Amino acid sequence: MKNAALENCRKKFDMTAADMAAMVREFQSEMERGLEGRDSSLKMIPTFVDCATGKEEGSYIALDLGGTNFRVLGVRLDGRGGISVEHVGKYVIPTAVMRGTGEQLFNFIAGSIKEFMTKNRISASDDRKLGFTFSFPVKQTAVAKGVLITWTKDFSASGVVGNDVVGLLSAALAGYGLEKIEIAALLNDTVGTLVAKSYEDPGCDVGVIFGTGTNACYRERIDRIRKLPGLDGKGHMIVNIEWGNFSKAPANEYDRMLDQVSGNPGQQLMEKKISGMYLGELTRLLISDLIADKSLFAGEKVNFSRGQFESQHMSLIEADDSADLSAVKLFLGGIGIPDATLEDRAVLKEACRIVSDRAAKISAAALSAVFTWMDPKLDGKHTAAIDGSVYEKHPGFRERVLAALKELHGEKAGKLALVSAKDGSGVGAAVVAAVAASA
Ligand code: BGC
Repeated sequence: MKNAALENCRKKFDMTAADMAAMVREFQSEMERGLEGRDSSLKMIPTFVDCATGKEEGSYIALDLGGTNFRVLGVRLDGRGGISVEHVGKYVIPTAVMRGTGEQLFNFIAGSIKEFMTKNRISASDDRKLGFTFSFPVKQTAVAKGVLITWTKDFSASGVVGNDVVGLLSAALAGYGLEKIEIAALLNDTVGTLVAKSYEDPGCDVGVIFGTGTNACYRERIDRIRKLPGLDGKGHMIVNIEWGNFSKAPANEYDRMLDQVSGNPGQQLMEKKISGMYLGELTRLLISDLIADKSLFAGEKVNFSRGQFESQHMSLIEADDSADLSAVKLFLGGIGIPDATLEDRAVLKEACRIVSDRAAKISAAALSAVFTWMDPKLDGKHTAAIDGSVYEKHPGFRERVLAALKELHGEKAGKLALVSAKDGSGVGAAVVAAVAASA
C-alpha cells in the first residue's frame, strides 16, 4: 500500500532522460525567442557588461539585496585576481519594509549604508564607487540603469515596478547625505557570481543561483543578441536569462496547487519547482496527500499546515543516514508528531527525495540547455560558477545534477565543471563596478 502510494508519487514527479532532452529543446527555443525580443518566458536580459580580466583594481562598496538579508561590503581588488572583503554589514529587512513602499525600502538601504560607513570609519566626503546587486528581474538599458519588471520571492514594495532602481537608490542616498557615492553598476546576483569567479578564473562562462530563488546568466556573443540594436556586434556581453520564469518544464497537480495560492500565479514556474522558497511547500502538498490516503502517520490528523515545512527541513531529513532515522524522529517530535513509526519516517524521507530529485533533473536540463546553446557539440570546456542555499546545503543536490548531466551528455559531461562560488553576489558587485569603471 505504502509502496504503491510512493510509486504513484514517483510517477508524478518522474523526469526521464527523454523528458530532460525535450526540456532542453524547449528551453533553447525560448532563449532564441527572448534574444530576438519575441514573446518568451525567458526574458534574456542584456546586462551591458562582460566578464572581468582580473586586472581591475581599487576599493568599492558592494550592496547585495535579494532576500530577507541585505548586505553591505567593503571590497578591495588587487589587480592580480585577488579579492579581499574588508568589511561586512548584515541587515535584516523587516517584512513590513519588503512589502511596504519603495521609499521605505530604499531609505532602509541608504540608512544601512550610512550606518555601515560610520561603523567602519569610511568617510562620506570622499568619492566612492558602488556596485548594487539587485536580484530581481530588471530590464537594463545601461550598466547602471534598469527598471524593475516584477518583484519575485515575496517582495512587493510599491512604486518600484516600472522605475529605475538606480534612480531610487541615488535619491535615498542623497537624503542620507551620501551624494559622493556613485552607483557605478547595477547587476543581478547571477552576474555577480559569474563575474566574481571570472576575476580569478577566466574560463568561467555561466553564473547560477540555486537558492531562495533560481536563475542563471551566461556570456553571449553580441551578434546573437538580436533585440539590441546599435551595437557593432563584436565581442561578448553577459545575458541574464531569468530562468526561474521558464514555463515549459513538466508540471503536475502539486505544482499547479502551489502556483495557484502563490503571490505570483503563473509566474516563476520553474523557480517554483526547484528553489528553496518553494521546495518545502511542494513536498508538504505531496505529504498531505500521503497522510490523507493513510500512507503516512496511519492517516492520523496531523497539523502540517502551509509554510510549516521548509526546504531546510528536507535537507535535514534527506541527510539523515542513521538506521533509525533519529534526526527525522527529532524533527517530527518538534512539530508535534512524536509517535511516527520508522516506516513513516522512511516514507517521509522518500517523499522529500522524490521532489528534490526532480529539482536536480530540471536544474541539469536548464544547465545543459545553456551550455549547448553556447557550444552545441560541447567541443570546449565550460564552467558554471554556482551559489545558493539549495546548491550549498541540500545533501546530494550537486551530485544529482552532475549525474543528470552525464545522463544527457555521456562522457562529454566531463567538460562541464560546476564550481562553488560562495558570496559571488556580494563581491561580484564590486568586480562589476570595477569592470564598468575600466570600460
Ligand atoms: C529573481 C532573479 C534572481 C534569482 C536568484 C529570482 O527570483 O527573479 O533575478 O537572480 O531569484 O536570486
